[in-house]
Amino acid sequence: MEKILDIITAKMQQAFVDAGYEASFGRVTASNRPDLCEYQCNGALSAAKQYKCAPIQIANAVVEKLNVADYDMVEAVMPGFINLKLSGAFLQSYLEQMRTAEDFGVSKPGAGKTIVVDYGGANVAKPLHIGHLRPAIIGEALKRLHAFMGYHAIGDIHLGDWGLQMGLIIAELQERQPELPYFDPDFTGEYPTEPPFTLSDLEEIYPTASAKKKDPEFAEKAHVATYELQQGRRGYRAIWNHIMGISLPDLKRIYDHLDVHYEKWLGESDADPYIPAMVEDLKNRGLAVLSEGAWVVPVAEDGDKKEVPPMILVKSDGSAIYATTDLATILQRMQDWKPEKMLYVTDKRQNLHFEQVFRAAKKCGIAAADTELEHVGHGTMNGADGKPFKTRDGGVLRLEQLIADMTDFVRGKVVENKIVDESEVEATTAKIALAALKYGDLSNQPTKDYNFDLERFAAFEGNTGPYILYTIVRIKSILSRYGAWESLPIQLPLSQEAKDLMLAITKFGPTMEAALANSAPNQICAYIYELAGCVNKFYHETPILKEEDESRKAGHIALIALAKNILEKCIEILGFSAPEKM
Ligand code: ARG
Repeated sequence: MEKILDIITAKMQQAFVDAGYEASFGRVTASNRPDLCEYQCNGALSAAKQYKCAPIQIANAVVEKLNVADYDMVEAVMPGFINLKLSGAFLQSYLEQMRTAEDFGVSKPGAGKTIVVDYGGANVAKPLHIGHLRPAIIGEALKRLHAFMGYHAIGDIHLGDWGLQMGLIIAELQERQPELPYFDPDFTGEYPTEPPFTLSDLEEIYPTASAKKKDPEFAEKAHVATYELQQGRRGYRAIWNHIMGISLPDLKRIYDHLDVHYEKWLGESDADPYIPAMVEDLKNRGLAVLSEGAWVVPVAEDGDKKEVPPMILVKSDGSAIYATTDLATILQRMQDWKPEKMLYVTDKRQNLHFEQVFRAAKKCGIAAADTELEHVGHGTMNGADGKPFKTRDGGVLRLEQLIADMTDFVRGKVVENKIVDESEVEATTAKIALAALKYGDLSNQPTKDYNFDLERFAAFEGNTGPYILYTIVRIKSILSRYGAWESLPIQLPLSQEAKDLMLAITKFGPTMEAALANSAPNQICAYIYELAGCVNKFYHETPILKEEDESRKAGHIALIALAKNILEKCIEILGFSAPEKM
């Protein structure tokens, strides 16, 4: 659907032409004085210079030519502004179109295009910790937003499943149980199908091994094990399979809990087979050069304000690194999915890494010249006191624990306020807790740090997830008391509150476009907070179910129903949902 700004700009441009001026002066913008008007056009001020006359004279002449039926108010004011308020009839017909169009008439800039969203970045065999919350939540929202805007969106977790952590576990296991067949180089039989460790063993083995990295002898063993695993040593491959078999279901379980879902569970190991040929090719084409024993791809560009060091392709000891894997992953994605866009969500401290990889991918022709490569670097989540989040004993808090803490807190409120029957406590709690957690995060600009404040995030009032849910639940309950509401048409606004709500609803499409262009789910949060505020104001000022005139009542219902549908669509994109009661 055409955006309101575009529609009234076109009408304004026609009025400029009809009054004898150039169309280009007719650009309309949202008002910067909402107390005076809804929209404004400042074109007469610039036109005055060209036509050498008073701006107000032009403004008056243009206003004469506008179709008054579209506006409640059209005013030329000194020195030459044109102020506009849309008419109720205009809004009614616009909202009725939104109501009946697919996805509220939002534009689909991604139609026919594929995007890969690389987010989550979990590392196998290491428990998810609070650092994994933001990439999961922001990435999921951006993926859903792209899908809503027409893209074929592929979410890929890009597991850390190939690095030193695997070698550390293998080395540690060998010290503990050297008799296992995995370590016997001459063993040719079938390895056991049962893993030699459980999930909780693994959760103890990894940190123990990691702490031993300082011991040079152990570190060497771990490096050798990593190398041999990557070279395909059978016994180590079998251990790797066991680790994956145990770790993945656990990761999936926690991501499910967050309503975060991946289309692809690929990892660094899946990129590995592409590396040898890629490296050979880059060497042959002279794109990779030798520097102090390492093969590197220079990626500095004229005009760089900061030094961008070359991307290391192969270290002097012959091993591939994180960047090599990411480059090979781009190669795999281009071959298999031909995406128009790849978007990575990680901590912003990886900015330089992605800058180097993206430049190398373009320079080497691994990504097409017009493939969009974007890194959304997020800030840190700190504790409520603004200091880095630590457990009481100074450790890193597990993601599962954070979810559990939020859930316990919310459950307390649900039980205390007797919100639902006992049988529904858990399901309702889970929905509210997820909204608190996700909205608390997503309402911040991704790049900014924020403080995790359980009580504030879980509050039912203020700019919070639960407040948004509460608004939706309130509308749902009115609708269910009303009866069949699904096909009621939008009517003329009967109050300022109704009109404000209608104006807020019209901003849905432009908000989605802006959130997409800026990779900014926080813009969706700001929008639904505004929309929910308008709904609640309307609700407080308007007797809805008590209205005796059936036709007026139907108009109120149609309006809040559309608001509810839009709110629900927005939270679905953000990655949470509303309960039936709250
Ligand atoms: N596993 C990585 C980490 O823990 C994050 C992976 C992000 N994605 C990527 N393609 N590099 O830092």
